[in-house]
Parts: sequence; structure tokens; C-alpha cells
Amino acid sequence: MKPRMIREDVYLVGAVDWDRRMFDALVPLPDGTSYNAYLVQGLERTALLDTVDPSMSETLMAQLDGVERIDYIVAHHAEQDHSGSIPLVLSRYPGARVVCNPKCKGMLMELLGIPDERFVTVEDRETLSLGGKTLEFIFTPWVHWPETMASYLKEDRILFSCDLFGSHLATSDLYSTERARAEEAAKRYYAEIMMPFRTFVQRNLERLAGYEIDVIAPSHGPLHDKPSLMMDSYREWASDRPGNLVVVPYVSMHGSTRRMVEHLVGELVSNGLGVRQFDLTVADIGKLAVALVDAATIVIGTSTVHVGPHPLAVYAAYLANSLKSKARFASVVGSYGWGTKAVEQITSQISGLKVEMLEPVVCRGFPGEAELRALEGLAESIAQRHRQLGLM
Ligand code: FEO
Repeated sequence: MKPRMIREDVYLVGAVDWDRRMFDALVPLPDGTSYNAYLVQGLERTALLDTVDPSMSETLMAQLDGVERIDYIVAHHAEQDHSGSIPLVLSRYPGARVVCNPKCKGMLMELLGIPDERFVTVEDRETLSLGGKTLEFIFTPWVHWPETMASYLKEDRILFSCDLFGSHLATSDLYSTERARAEEAAKRYYAEIMMPFRTFVQRNLERLAGYEIDVIAPSHGPLHDKPSLMMDSYREWASDRPGNLVVVPYVSMHGSTRRMVEHLVGELVSNGLGVRQFDLTVADIGKLAVALVDAATIVIGTSTVHVGPHPLAVYAAYLANSLKSKARFASVVGSYGWGTKAVEQITSQISGLKVEMLEPVVCRGFPGEAELRALEGLAESIAQRHRQLGLM
């Protein structure tokens, strides 16, 4: 795509990556992504805000063909999907300097070999005048690396937020006009990238509260011309309060654990709880992450393999633990053939969560009446806990 004007002398450049299906060899991308860079042309100086992933350098460089000078390349974040094309831009514009904070400078020198003399470092809240366009740099640490920062273009009230408020969404829309789709993509992005840093997100939202923002321009996905909607969503997602939701990721080798999960889920629903059930052999792990944003309770269902939990259940437990779910309660259900340590091992996998472990339900072979009653008891315990928290 060609550069797209956001405001007079402010352009979206960068690349839409319609075909990418994995990010960081870790995160599935069902809807592709984009690497947004921005060109701000003042009366005296021109700044490029971020670049693009090296796989799409050609697209960015073609967009810059008519741009005679770039004085500054603002690097909000050292991760290569934004910084990876900086060396190419520096080669084309020998007078350009990289503007970033001291922490980011160290990382860019290590990651990309950019020499010391090409940098200008800035402090928190420092401003840079381009002539009629003034950038204020706002440090926003740990969303999601330690050096991350944003820029606020004062005259046009645009917040360039880098990864914060982003979404992995390839789209021809300049703004997040397809509201439901954009909200879903933004929540998925939050779940996968930002959720482990929830308390930092809260702090950074407070830092940004004093700015009048007309447009949020992130480095992935569409821009947001109704910033309060995105800010409010982030406040809710990052808050300490979970929803009335039980997430049940499970894996069943011979149908016994599945029968237990189905009975439990039916009972949970009858008790007035919201449930998301995920068969881990086919689940979209991104959707599981999204459910974990709101979950008050996580119940992991697992068959026993060689006395321990199934590897897919271990993965789900690891995921919930590493994403730092705000869930308050957890339990384990499952079946075994001759012996099991599944409960102990799953419990150990989620030791980083601040959850109360509720009485697990495990059975040898296919569940009988006693196990089904125990599952009903577990559902009632979860409902009681949710009621005590005022979630229902
Ligand atoms: Fe989009 Fe953390 O890079």
C-alpha cells in the first residue's frame, strides 16, 4: 500500500503482512498482522516513527522513495518487527539519527549493530520539535519489553503507542471501524502479549490519562479514532477483577476425561456460571489465552500418561501460569489407568498463580456415579466462590 495520510503531514507507512501465520515462532496469527511506521513531516525536520520487520523492508523503502530527508528515526521498541529495518533507513539517509531512550539504545546496538554515533537519546517526557510538529516521548516500560516508550504528537493529539493497543490484524481499514472484529483482535493481542504485564499496563494507562488523545496509532493493526473505547477495554482487561467465567481446557485419550468435563460443564452452566471449554487436541491456543483474560476459575481436565498429566494439559497449565491469569480458583479433573500424579504435577505447573485450589476429581477408568456426584460438588463450590466475589 502507498502512504496514507492521517493528518496534514502525518502519514501511515509500513507494511500489511496478510500471509504471516506465526509470530515469534510462538503466537498463531489467524488474521495476519501489520508493521506500522509513521512519517511526521515538520517545517524543519522529518521523523520516521519505527520501521518494519526485515521481511518487509522493501515495502517500507519503496514508500520512502519520494521522501528526500529523514532526520530522525524514533525507535519506540527494540524488538525486530519494528526496529529491524532501521539499518537500511540509516544507510539511505546518512544524516539520520535514531531517537530512543538509553535502554533501547543499548539493545539496538546489541541486536542490530547500530553504532553509537547514530543515536540521540531522550528522557521521559522530553520533547522534540520538528517545526510545527512536536513529539513528546512518554516512557511506557514493560509493555512488553523494559525499554518500550510511546510518542505523543501534541499539535495533532496522536498517540503513537507501538505494541500497546496493537492487534495482529491485516486489514485495508485505516481505522478500527469493524468494531467487533477489531475488538476481538485487540483482546487476543492483549492476552498473548500484554497480559503477563498487567500491572504495568495499569500503571501506563494512568500515565497516559493526562493526555488528550484523538487517535491512537499503534505499531500493529488498525488505528483507533475512538481512543476511549480501546482505553476502557484495556482498563477492564488489566483490572484485578475477573468475570463470572470458568475456563476448562482438557485432553481425553479414551473418553473418560471428556465425560467428566462434559458433566462438569453442564453443572457449571446449571449453576449460572459462564464456561469456555477447549479440547486441547484441536484448540486455537490464542482463543484459550483470550478466555484466560476474564477467567475467575480454571479447571484443567487431563488423562494420565505414564503417571503424569498429558503433555497438552501441561502446556495449558504452563500457558495460564506464564500469562499470569488473574483467576482466583483452580482445580483438576481427570482419569487414570493404574496410578496418577497428574493433580500434583498440574498444581506445581500453576504455582505462579494466586489461586485457591479446589478439591480435584480424579477417577480410575470411566467415571461412575460417585465421580459424577463429586463433579457436581465441584461445580457448586465454584459457584459459591464466584458468588462470594460478587461475580454472579
Ligand atoms: Fe511488535 Fe514487541 O514487537
